[in-house]
Amino acid sequence: MATPKSKMENLNSMQSQAKVLKLVLVSLFIVLAVGGVQAYRYFSTSEAALTTEQITALAKTTTPEDRAEWLRLARAVLASESVQQITAPVEPRNNLGESSKVELGYQLFFDPILSADKTTSCASCHHPDFGMADGLPKGVGAGGRGYGAHRAGSGAELPRNTPSIFNVAFNEFQFWDGRVRTLEEQVLVPLFAENEMNQQNLAELLKRLRAIPRYRELFGKAFGFKTQNDGIEINLQNIARAISAFERKLNITETSYDHFAKGKDDALTTEQLRGFVVFMGQGQCAVCHTPPHFHDGVLSSIGTTTSPDKASPIDPDPGFGAVLRRQDGFGMFKTPGLRNVERTAPYMHNGAFKTLEEVVEFYNDGGGRGRGQDAYSQDSKVAKLDLTEQQKKDLVAFLKTLNDLSPPPVVPASVPSGLPVVGK
Ligand code: HEC
Ligand code: HEC
Repeated sequence: MATPKSKMENLNSMQSQAKVLKLVLVSLFIVLAVGGVQAYRYFSTSEAALTTEQITALAKTTTPEDRAEWLRLARAVLASESVQQITAPVEPRNNLGESSKVELGYQLFFDPILSADKTTSCASCHHPDFGMADGLPKGVGAGGRGYGAHRAGSGAELPRNTPSIFNVAFNEFQFWDGRVRTLEEQVLVPLFAENEMNQQNLAELLKRLRAIPRYRELFGKAFGFKTQNDGIEINLQNIARAISAFERKLNITETSYDHFAKGKDDALTTEQLRGFVVFMGQGQCAVCHTPPHFHDGVLSSIGTTTSPDKASPIDPDPGFGAVLRRQDGFGMFKTPGLRNVERTAPYMHNGAFKTLEEVVEFYNDGGGRGRGQDAYSQDSKVAKLDLTEQQKKDLVAFLKTLNDLSPPPVVPASVPSGLPVVGK
């Protein structure tokens, strides 16, 4: 039986044990609490968990020189917007891009024999020296001589700016107003348009091509069952197919931006990283110019004005409105992809904006409506942005990371007709 003394000892030791236990529990609580807060902070600011809104907020408190933080934010944007990488375009099953067909399309694209007066090829307006566009505010049509920005003579001014045909394989629609769906259909438009290549006599065009042995051979290889070189495959459908197959190979997939997206951290400068965060966040650009193609495949109105001057009126071109035959489509144009955008100035369907700085200023003001014009069909996502001077510069710097890093298509030294090739 225990003595009172040993009872006291027991009690004492029990008390000190309880003290130790309390200490352990309190310490455990502190460790858990501190750890929990740390873990919460870690997960709530780790790349996967940040939303674009949170990133935009964090960007405001980040110093411009803090490269490590801008890198983290840019990577977080890619994750939060689930940005995909660019892949090869899908070729239609009835017009796969075999190399023989692409070669024929390449020759036809540069050959002025397709135009009525044998002066104008597709390359007169879509030239490698000008990012597969022409560097002019509006295209110069039939009657013009030379190519790209060197085009002169008495040519008629076309109603719209010439778009680059890089990455057209990824377009949902062709033309600024989206009036044509496929590339095969598109070829026929400039070919027969009076103010472009003005080809009014199909029989005469086919006769011309059949008279050239090299074309008989190229069409035979691309479309013939047996290569008899009798010119039987030379028809309008095959001309359109060959040129389209060539166009589907003109893809810009190598840019500094793509290198960054694939994981190369040093592909972008700190300024460009900052610009990317603006592009995806506060600038709202990616809502319509969605990576990896930097367009959303649809048409919308940004209230484009007739010039970059702040008081300019809305451009009168109805765009998609005329295709739809509806007022609410007024001023809607296809969102242009921004790959190579630095090299395809001037900008917009009317070629009225000469520099990227002018374009950014326009968006910062909230487009045509933000500048006080009655742009009733303007998309609500184009609204005042309140960008700082630094952010505007950064945004322009980012747009330049979309430049093609691979060499442009080579202009052929000669074409089967023997006619002079523009830009050679
Ligand atoms: C005289 C200049 C000129 C010639 C020649 C010309 N184009 Fe164009 N091209 C333009 C203009 C201007 C547009 C925009 C017209 C519009 O959207 O209404 C355009 C648009 C296009 C588009 C649509 C691109 C897009 O993103 O919507 C493609 C594709 C194209 N042209 C290919 C060709 C091909 C192929 C040829 C030769 C068969 C050719 N072009 C000849 C001036 C020209
Ligand atoms: C609501 C959709 C939308 C938003 C948002 C938007 N854009 Fe656009 N963007 C367009 C459309 C549509 C056009 C063509 C308008 C025209 O031709 O009149 C265009 C044209 C452009 C062009 C001219 C490209 C060329 O080849 O001519 C540039 C550059 C451009 N946008 C950059 C930006 C930037 C930078 C932002 C963000 C500040 C932005 N866009 C936000 C739809 C949008």
